[in-house]
Formats: sequence, structure tokens, C-alpha cells
Amino acid sequence: MSLTVLKLGGSVITEKGSPETVDEERLELVVEALRGTDDLVLVHGAGSFGHHHAAAHGVSQDEGTHDTEGVLAIHRSMVRLNDRMLDALGERGIPALPVHPLSAGYRDREGTLFHPIAHVGTMVDEGFVPLLHGDVIVQAKAGATILSGDDLVVALAEGLDADCLGLCSTVPGVLDGEGGVIDRIDSLENVVDVLGGSDSTDVTGGMAAKVEKLLATDAPASIFGPDDVEAFLAGKSPGTLIGG
Ligand code: IPE
Repeated sequence: MSLTVLKLGGSVITEKGSPETVDEERLELVVEALRGTDDLVLVHGAGSFGHHHAAAHGVSQDEGTHDTEGVLAIHRSMVRLNDRMLDALGERGIPALPVHPLSAGYRDREGTLFHPIAHVGTMVDEGFVPLLHGDVIVQAKAGATILSGDDLVVALAEGLDADCLGLCSTVPGVLDGEGGVIDRIDSLENVVDVLGGSDSTDVTGGMAAKVEKLLATDAPASIFGPDDVEAFLAGKSPGTLIGG
């Protein structure tokens, strides 16, 4: 049995430029590729769903809030996307169940994430596909802050001792200065010059932040595009392989 943790980036499954809009075509493509995969934990990002609300309420990974209305606006937006994803997965026979980080986890004052692992692991053992998402969660001494799906996949992959971790992004991997895909990254220093930021409203950082997080994990991690989900799940290494 080999456990896979896969994040679907928010800009893969939503139209990032238009508020709360799912990219139906992309979602269909990706969900189709997931069919028949056992032992899978899914996480999705926010795209055009969470980030706008987070920005409107001045909440980020570092800036917390005690404004309940703001927390609920961000969270409910993510739950709406999660519901849409559950429907799309369920319609294609993928037994996905929701896990909402706000209701399950928290961060301590140093920012370390605590999220129940056994809960998610038991879902997998029972044949379900847990579907988590980037969210707003409570943080000691800060109120509530943004939890990126990237941080969540790293914590889940470590806690569940996953065999592989994937980040499905809109680009086919980490790109070099000429737009080619870098096959493998073993250290951040070697690539820091070519990694830019993210283009749309994104409160949780761009490619450099992703690479840094993935380098810190034990499981081999890959960043790849929507067309490569099937190859990734088949055990190949599409896109960019990070550390591992
Ligand atoms: C952000 O999650 C969550 C919120 C803004 C509530 P992610 O950081 O994982 O989202 P994407 O993939 O970048 O859109």
C-alpha cells in the first residue's frame, strides 16, 4: 500500500481572475485522472474563493484577526469550494469526505501547525478519500490566520508517512529562466534567482515558498501541471522533483 498526498492548487480548479468561479473544464480533467486511485489524501487551495475574502479582512499567514465575521467569510468561501469539489468527485465515484481545518486544527504561538492525523488516516483506511483545504484557523495569540494548503500537505505527508506528495499547479513544474521545466531541485540556493512571486491575489506566497516547504519534507515531492496528474499517480515523476 502506498499513500499519496496531493494538493490541487487553487488556480488549477478555479478561475483566479473572477470571484468564486470554478474552472469546470479543468476540474473535470483532474477529477477524471484521480479515478481508481486508492490510498489518497486530497487538499485543495483557494484560488478565486478564499484569497479575496482574506485580503478584504486583512488576514494572512502572519496577520491574524479576532473578527468572527471575517473568519467566517473566509471559511465559508472555502467550504463552498469544498462542497463543489465533493460533488465533482462524488459524481465520478470517488468516495471523498470533507475535513475542514478550522474545525480540526490550530497553530501554536510559534506558528507550528497541529492537525489531527489519525482522523484523516482512519478515513483512508476505511476506503474514503479525505478532502481538506486551505483555510483560516485559530492561532495562539493571533486570533485566526490563514493556513495554506501547501503547509497542510506537508504536515499530512509527514504525519501519515506518505510515500509521495504532489502539488498540482497551473505550470508544468518549476520553470527556469528560459521557461523550461527544472527536473530536480535539491536546494533552494540553486534556484532562488529564477523563482518569482505569484501574479494574482495570493496571500500565501508563490513558487519559492512552495519549493522551500517541499524541501523540508522526507517524502519525495513533485510539482507538476494539470495534464500530469495521471502520470504522477502512476508513480512517474512528471514536472519537478523536489528533494526526496
Ligand atoms: C489559501 O490556501 C487559503 C485561504 C486563502 C483561505 P492556498 O494557499 O493553499 O490556496 P492557493 O492554492 O494558493 O489558491
